[in-house]
Amino acid sequence: MTLLPATSRSPEAPAEAGDPAFTARVRARFGRRAGSYDSQARLQRAVAWRLAGVARSLPLPAGPLADLGAGSGLLSRALLERRPDLAQRLPLQIDLCPDLLARNPLAQHPQGGALPPWDLNQPLPPQLSGAALLASSFALQWLDQPASALAHWCERLAPGGWLLLALPVAGSFRAWRQAAAAASVPYTGLPLPAAEALGSVAAERLELIRNQRLRFSQGGLDGLATLRLLGGLGATASRQAPLGPGQLRRLLRHWPTGAPLDWEVLLLIGRRLP
Ligand SMILES: C[S@@+](CC[C@H](N)C(=O)[O-])C[C@H]1O[C@@H](n2cnc3c(N)ncnc32)[C@H](O)[C@@H]1O
Repeated sequence: MTLLPATSRSPEAPAEAGDPAFTARVRARFGRRAGSYDSQARLQRAVAWRLAGVARSLPLPAGPLADLGAGSGLLSRALLERRPDLAQRLPLQIDLCPDLLARNPLAQHPQGGALPPWDLNQPLPPQLSGAALLASSFALQWLDQPASALAHWCERLAPGGWLLLALPVAGSFRAWRQAAAAASVPYTGLPLPAAEALGSVAAERLELIRNQRLRFSQGGLDGLATLRLLGGLGATASRQAPLGPGQLRRLLRHWPTGAPLDWEVLLLIGRRLP
């Protein structure tokens, strides 16, 4: 299922909070599972490591650094491992969820720090104007208007500043969507943005060195195990009403046997031209 950002908002305009009830659910769900996030987030850790590998060789101009939707800090921690020079200029940790920030060592660091919980549906905080690096992994898809937010992030970079972005995109969770269609129940997963639309937004504003889609899959999971895995991450807030018990049973009965849990992940890495 694909949900493109509302066409009524130009991609140039910063995103505004559009669905506060959904955002509150996102915050509550991640908060409830904050204690198990790190142990469950295998894919997120692998993607963070990959982004950090690319960042190793990027020349950063002067300016602030931030991890947007930082959560427990997996991406920033990977960045610091691959770029020890960043210990002198730690990325600001920005997130909606105080429980995850409380488990984020960089948010607690005296030279690093975090803002009080910040909703990224709003424009970035003023201290991130002219940013040298805006990094974000597995967070943009939770925003009300991912393409508008992405445009805004690109425009807050300093000349020569870098965007380092990864997120799951439309095309992910095929088994779930197949099961929902076969069971005639609504697909209640998070609608994910289309990779092409985000790639165009970034390409209009940045010199992209990476615009790449990666496919990841995890086998050996039936429907219940898939939903439990997402539950363990806290990544279960939905924009739709939850399924009733009967619908859920039907969904699980129609889950394709042996189909892996699959993710399509978009990597966008680019530099703002002077
Ligand atoms: C799947 S976690 C990813 C965390 C981390 N970047 C990582 O790679 O492990 C998604 C993160 O996005 C944050 N998030 C979701 N919606 C947000 C919003 N509107 N404003 C700020 N952060 C948000 C969540 O609180 C959560 O920490």
